[in-house]
Amino acid sequence: MREEKRNKLLIFYASQTGNALDAAERIGRESERRGCPVVVRPVDDYDARCLPEEDTVIFVVSTTGQGDTPDSMKVFWRFLLQKSLSKQWLEGVRYAVFGLGDSGYQKFNFVAKKLDNRLLDLGATAVVERGLGDDQHPSGYEGALDPWMRSLWRRLHQIDPSFFPQGPDHVIEEMKLIDQPKVHITYHSIDNAASRLSNASDLEGIRMQLETARSMSAGKLSNYNNKAVCFLKMIKNQPLTKSGSGKDVHHFEFEFVSAAIEYEVGDVLEVLPSQDPAAVDTFIQRCNLDPDALITVQHKEMKNYLPDIHKNTTEVPIKLRTFVELTMDVTSASPRRYFFEVMSYFATAEHEKERLQYFASPEGRDDLYKYNQKERRTVLEVLEDFPSVQMPFDWLVQLVPPLKTRAFSISSSPLAHPNQVHLTVSVVSWTTPYKRKRTGLCSAWLAGLDPQQGIYIPAWFQKGSLPRPPPSVPLILIGPGTGCAPFRGFVEERAIQSSSGPAAPIIFFFGCRNEDDFLYRELWLSHSLNDGVFPEAKGGGFYVAFSRKQPQKVYVQHKMLEQSQRIWNLLLSKASIYVAGSATKMPSDVWSTFEEIVSKEGEASRDSAANWLKALQRAGRYHVEAWS
Ligand code: 2AM
Repeated sequence: MREEKRNKLLIFYASQTGNALDAAERIGRESERRGCPVVVRPVDDYDARCLPEEDTVIFVVSTTGQGDTPDSMKVFWRFLLQKSLSKQWLEGVRYAVFGLGDSGYQKFNFVAKKLDNRLLDLGATAVVERGLGDDQHPSGYEGALDPWMRSLWRRLHQIDPSFFPQGPDHVIEEMKLIDQPKVHITYHSIDNAASRLSNASDLEGIRMQLETARSMSAGKLSNYNNKAVCFLKMIKNQPLTKSGSGKDVHHFEFEFVSAAIEYEVGDVLEVLPSQDPAAVDTFIQRCNLDPDALITVQHKEMKNYLPDIHKNTTEVPIKLRTFVELTMDVTSASPRRYFFEVMSYFATAEHEKERLQYFASPEGRDDLYKYNQKERRTVLEVLEDFPSVQMPFDWLVQLVPPLKTRAFSISSSPLAHPNQVHLTVSVVSWTTPYKRKRTGLCSAWLAGLDPQQGIYIPAWFQKGSLPRPPPSVPLILIGPGTGCAPFRGFVEERAIQSSSGPAAPIIFFFGCRNEDDFLYRELWLSHSLNDGVFPEAKGGGFYVAFSRKQPQKVYVQHKMLEQSQRIWNLLLSKASIYVAGSATKMPSDVWSTFEEIVSKEGEASRDSAANWLKALQRAGRYHVEAWS
C-alpha cells in the first residue's frame, strides 16, 4: 500500500451509475492538463486507514434514490463513521467534495453533504466549498462542475503554487488525446454460438441478444439492472386526453407473456425504448461500420461494476448492428463535452477541428451548450455536422450515451388485472430554440405502437419509492397530472379489498389544466359515491384542481388547504401520505402545504409542524415519487 500514500492529488469516486466516474476522470484530465499529475481511484479500492497520509483528496460522489450512498462507498463510509476516529484524525489533509444529485429529490446531494461534514469533523481542511451537481440543470452536473473546478485550481494554486507551476489557468497540454479508449472490441468469425445469437428472431432469441448486449455495455449503462428482462404484449394503447388540449397522455395495457411475474401497486416498470431502425442504419453507414460484424465488448477498467452473474456472458459475440441498436443512444440523447473533445482529435478538416476544439474548451462552453444540449442534438446529428470526423468504434462505444430504460409508475393493481400491467404515459414533445420539433424517445415510440400488430416490449419490474399500503391505513394521495398513475392502482386495489372486508378511506387530490386532460375522470367519480373508496362521510373524498379553467391558477395545494380539517383528521387516524407527479416544484410545494395544515389544525408553530412531518416521514408515512 506504500505507493498509494502521499499522493499529491488523489481523486476518489463513488459511482452507482458511472456519472461520478465520468466527472472524476474529467477533473483528473483537467488537472493533468495544468501540469499536476493525479491518481483517480474508486473509493472501494482504497484502504481508508491510509487517508491521514494523503496530501489533497478530491471526492466525487453521487447520491442515489432517496439519499442513499452508492454501493461502492458503503464500506468506506462505515469506516469514516467510526466513533473511535478522533477529531484530529485527518489534520493536515486537504479535501474537496463534488456531489452528483438531482434536486427533484428531497435529499438533494445528501451523500456529498454528509461526507463533507464528516471530513470536516475529522479535522480535514476544505480547499473549496463543496460543489453540487444537479441533474435538473440543463447541462446536467457539468453546469456546476466547471465553475467548481475553476475555483478548485485557483485555490490549490494559492495554497501551494507547486500544484500548477505555470498557474492555475495555464493549460500546458494542448488539446490532444491523452487517453486511450477504455473499451476493447474483439471481432469474431462466425461460429455456431454467434449465429444462434445473431439470427434468432423469436422472443427467446431477442431476449438473449438483449441481455448479451446490455451486459457487455453494463459498465456504462447508468440504470443497468441485472434482473432478467420480461417481454410484455401490448393489448391497448388509448389516448386519455383530447387532441388540441396541449397534453397527450396515453393509457397502455400489457399482458404477461410468461405467467410468473409478480408486482405490487406502487412498483415501477422500466421500459427499453426502440430507436428508429433507419436512423441506426444511417449511423452505422456514417461511421463506416460493418453492421454484420460479430463483436464482443470488454471494458478495461469496469470489471468491478459488472454484476457477477454477467461477468461471463460478455464472451458471447453479437452483431454490431444489434449492439448499437440496443445499447447506444444515437437518436435521442445529446453527447457529453468529452465526445466533442475526442471528435476534435479525429477531425481531418481544419475548420471542423477548430470548432470542435473551441466547443471542448472552457471559453466555448456556453456555445456548446446552445448548440448541443439546448438543441438536444443527437449523436447522429452531431456526426453529420462534422463530416470529416471518423471516430473508431471503440471510442464510439465508450462515448455515445447509453440507451437508457425509462421508468414509469405502474398504474394498475395486479388484484384488479391479473396477468396485466398498465401504464399512464405522457407523450413528451417540445420545440427547441431553433424551432426544431423534438419528442421523447420512449413515450413517442410507445404512443405510436399499434396493439393489433403483435407488439412485445422489453421491460423490467422494479420497486419504486411508494410502498404498498395495507387496507387498514387511510390514505392521503396527491397526484396531479400523470402523478395519478400509481394511485389508479391504489384505488383499484382498495376497491377490491373493501369488497371483502373493512378498508380505510382515501382522500385524493388530483390536478389538471381543465376537463380535456382530466385523466381517468369516470374512475375517480365512480368511487366518489359513498360506497366507493373516497367516502366523504368517512373522511375521504376526491378533489380536483383545474389549473387553467379560470384566470388564476388553482393547484392541488389550494384544494388541500380547503380540506385542511379533513386531512388533519385522517392524519390523526394514522393516515399515510403519498405524493407523486412530474412537476419539479410540486413535491416541495405540497410539503409546505402540509406544514401549513399541520400548523393550523394542530395549533403548532411552523417549525414544530415541520418536525412533526419529518417524524411522520421517518415513520414511513410520507412517500414521494417525483419525476421530471
Ligand atoms: P399548469 O400546467 O397549469 O401550471 C398537471 O401537470 C397539473 O399540475 C397541471 O394542472 C399543472 O398546472 C399543475 N402544476 C404545475 N406546477 C405545479 C405545482 N408546483 N404544484 C402543483 N401543481 C402544479
